Amino acid sequence: AAHASEPAKRVLLAKPRGYCAGVDRAVQAVELALAHYGAPVYVRKQIVHNAYVVRTLEAAGAVFVEETDEVPEGAVVVFSAHGVAPEVHAEAATRNLKTIDATCPLVTKVHHEARRFAAEDYDIVLIGHDGHEEVVGTTGEAPDHVRLVDGPADVAAVSVRDPERVVWLSQTTLSVDETMQTVDALREKFPSLQSPPSDDICYATQNRQAAVKAIAPQTDLFLVVGSQNSSNSVRMVEVAKAAGARAAYLVDDVHAVSPEWLSGVTTVGLSSGASVPEILVREVAGWLAERGYGEPEEVAHTEERLTFALPQELRRDLKLSA
Ligand code: F3S
Repeated sequence: AAHASEPAKRVLLAKPRGYCAGVDRAVQAVELALAHYGAPVYVRKQIVHNAYVVRTLEAAGAVFVEETDEVPEGAVVVFSAHGVAPEVHAEAATRNLKTIDATCPLVTKVHHEARRFAAEDYDIVLIGHDGHEEVVGTTGEAPDHVRLVDGPADVAAVSVRDPERVVWLSQTTLSVDETMQTVDALREKFPSLQSPPSDDICYATQNRQAAVKAIAPQTDLFLVVGSQNSSNSVRMVEVAKAAGARAAYLVDDVHAVSPEWLSGVTTVGLSSGASVPEILVREVAGWLAERGYGEPEEVAHTEERLTFALPQELRRDLKLSA
């Protein structure tokens, strides 16, 4: 039993956390494709950036590949939530693949913006992480018009053809605060800079960061469950630190949590990225309970109700078979 003078050890659980509507739809698309067409179903890239999800789908018969040329002619391939460049669709068509496009509709929206501004001959400053799949896909919509900027430090080096015809767009899973700093720096350089018609950073990213920010000042340690290649999860750790958590770590699952981190820690903040199944959060909460921490107290910041319809190719085929 805890000594009477010791403060109660608490866990503050951020809400919302975990699956967003785009991830839920993408994971369901693979599961339903497996059920409907039978294994193997090929998936180009990780369907969502979470190691547990990928392992689970692999066990169910999904085969993850890097490129469509690894998929046998005529087979079923699912495109990941992060989106693909138009050339990937073209390649899949030449190989006669049956494609199911699980690109998140909020990523598709940014693709449309890129196409539209390129058609109007704007230069597009795309704020995002170099090499991230979503950035590769969005850039592919208008490679000649896109200039990539990965934070405020990159702004000095950006050049455009006509500073009167410049718009910024962004990856959906960036830090809200850092992106605004980048936009401020861009606007100083290009005063006529146009903004995207609506937020490119998606609702799920914004809500998860806001929920972390609200709790972080009360915490001695903040744990974000998520994989290293998950942009939105990594940003949540940065947000926790910037908002006053004494320490913050990204953990793939409970096995990555180190008991040493708990030394002197009274209040733990806990959340998870948009690609993370809730069971992984529950396991971390259980591990903390074994070490004297209380039942997680959920701190709700926003209610999320958004859902997306399944990819249309899949909807069509599921109906045909009914
Ligand atoms: Fe879509 Fe945002 Fe999730 S872009 S996949 S709703 S993190």
